[in-house]
Amino acid sequence: MSNDKKETATLSLPGCDPITFPILAGTLGPSVIDVSHLNNDGFFTYDPGFQSTAACQSAITFIDGDQGILLHRGYPIAALAEQSDYLEVCYLLLNGELPNQKQKINFVDQIQHHTLVHEQLSNFFNGFPRKSHPMAIMCGVVGALSAFYHDSLEIKNPAHRDLAALRLIAKMPTIAAMAYKYSLGQPFVYPQNSLSYVENFLHMMFSVPTETDKINPVLVRAMDRVFILHADHEQNASTSTVRLAGSSGANPFACISAGIAALWGPAHGGANEAVINMLQEIGDASRIEQYIAKAKDKNDPFRLMGFGHRVYKNFDPRAKVMRQTCYEVMEALQIHENPLFKLALKLEEIALQDPYFIEKKLYPNVDFYSGIILKAIGIPTNMFTVIFAIARTVGWIAHWNEMLSASDLKIGRPRQLYVGLTERAFIPLDKRT
Ligand code: SDX
Repeated sequence: MSNDKKETATLSLPGCDPITFPILAGTLGPSVIDVSHLNNDGFFTYDPGFQSTAACQSAITFIDGDQGILLHRGYPIAALAEQSDYLEVCYLLLNGELPNQKQKINFVDQIQHHTLVHEQLSNFFNGFPRKSHPMAIMCGVVGALSAFYHDSLEIKNPAHRDLAALRLIAKMPTIAAMAYKYSLGQPFVYPQNSLSYVENFLHMMFSVPTETDKINPVLVRAMDRVFILHADHEQNASTSTVRLAGSSGANPFACISAGIAALWGPAHGGANEAVINMLQEIGDASRIEQYIAKAKDKNDPFRLMGFGHRVYKNFDPRAKVMRQTCYEVMEALQIHENPLFKLALKLEEIALQDPYFIEKKLYPNVDFYSGIILKAIGIPTNMFTVIFAIARTVGWIAHWNEMLSASDLKIGRPRQLYVGLTERAFIPLDKRT
């Protein structure tokens, strides 16, 4: 980042001279005040939830929450969703440019030749109860990959990082489909290199040895678009988790497993599953008002899942594309009377007219409509966050790679405001009351 202009910020503090900090300007979005030396003057900044704190510099994704803008390496998300495909977006996020024809063919070939997992990895599944949540399996099995790839764990070696990236992007769909098949008691389905990335995933999810599966191209396109819309989102909770784990030098498989764990939370990637559960609980448009009232009630922990966002205070541009995709999928599948989709549209309409949601700038986010598409594709609800994790793996890796390539890499180690007890003498057990 070039910061030729030497703009500064000055802080006056009790008991010491005013402190001056450099202001760093990016290419887009707010400038930042570099407070990294403030601790030398005996102070820390305080920002729980990091609402006003930039933890790094990044060139991968830009979000303007007020304008509802999302760019991946400068390309608007709507253009990528309409005109690109998921593996092209993976190449873009990892390398900074869209691939040319030759680069794309080579990248697709590389991914396809890493889709198999070690045969012994399938033994891990037998330790899980059949009814395990698939995200529990993903956390465990993806983290275990590091036990099989000692040849690509030197994180300071760019070639090792590139190989680990290919392996993770290629194997996440395979492991996810294995988790689903395991829950059904059906045999695992091997990847087929004659199929595209998404066709292969749907093949591994839904085909059985006794029949040749027919993969609906409409569902393939819809699944690919869902993957694109979830690929990256700058410093969200799970990506920041991957960066923090990676800053200690942990191997890429362990870092991605940490990202999967962070994504699982209902406030983050678990929201898509929670939206469908919420819509099914509401059940009918006549009950929407009572749930809107619950969402507004400070004494009620209920929140309108799929609504609100830390950054977007306008429509999440991904939600707009997702809603359009819902229409296209329902049309293509002749599901005009999809009750969940109709209920979601009605809920959105009512919520967006409600003063509470208007005042707090709560709009539908990426998770509000994604579950409806995933259900139409035949993905079970408890696999929704797994789909999110498959898609976000490339974003996690791109940020992990960017961090490790940075010249100012330091281990992440936030400070705190200590509010505990001051020092006191130890009390021997026989003296304690
Ligand atoms: C994702 O960060 C990312 O980029 C994430 C993500 C990505 O691609 O990685 O975009 C993916 O995680 C999308 C968000 C999915 N989560 C949900 O849909 C769960 C429901 N939404 C909320 O829990 C909430 O909106 C968050 C967690 C998404 C954002 O929370 P913030 O930024 O911490 O905001 P907040 O909790 O401080 O809310 C501000 C106010 C509060 O009221 P007050 O205390 O000011 O009176 O808005 C209210 C909240 O109570 N509020 C809601 C609400 N979301 C916020 N009230 C009702 N329903 C909601 N959904």
